[in-house]
Amino acid sequence: MKFFIDTANLDQIKEAEALGVLDGVTTNPSLMAKEGITGQENILNHYVAICEAVEGDVSAEVIATDFEGMVKEGEALAALHPQIVVKIPMIEDGVKALKYFANQGIKTNCTLVFSAGQALLAAKAGATYVSPFIGRLDDISTDGLNLIEEIREIYDNYEFETQILAASVRHTMHVIDCAKIGADVMTGPLSSIKGLLKHPLTDIGLAKFLEDYQKGN
Ligand code: G3P
Repeated sequence: MKFFIDTANLDQIKEAEALGVLDGVTTNPSLMAKEGITGQENILNHYVAICEAVEGDVSAEVIATDFEGMVKEGEALAALHPQIVVKIPMIEDGVKALKYFANQGIKTNCTLVFSAGQALLAAKAGATYVSPFIGRLDDISTDGLNLIEEIREIYDNYEFETQILAASVRHTMHVIDCAKIGADVMTGPLSSIKGLLKHPLTDIGLAKFLEDYQKGN
């Protein structure tokens, strides 16, 4: 299972990378704005800085919503750095753009996926990753994890190569449940990754080992 961090915050990206378990980064326009990164030039420079901070795939989202615009923007994003994955919204022109980029050998991440049907279309169009937003489904009293299960079953039935990238992950149990279901990737905040570390019995056990070592020395 790959771990991506879902942020545009360079310090958090570097902290996750230093832990040695990071496989990539996802961003979106909201995450960029949260870090105060505005204006096309600053945004493009920030993508390059992220790529230089990590080894894996870095999703960069297009703003255009028409086919020609997405192609133009996506090609410019892909040319920025070999690690860039072009993030395309699940809309009609987005499906066409996914197919276009698949034919060009450019990696894509189909975002804003909320149903199994949308995920099936993304796979048919040749998306590299599909991003079902599980937290946002949970927010509206719908089981986000159930969507991951449905997509896993469909993709396995036909051996689609599109990777399921569980997105809008909010906490450690999302990560664990996605791992049990067999999501290929999860993207979440740093807290969802570092939270996996924690267990009080580990802390108590370590304190006791150190205490006993001191007694014998
Ligand atoms: O990866 C998608 C993500 O950025 C959305 O997360 O927490 O805003 O639903 P959230």
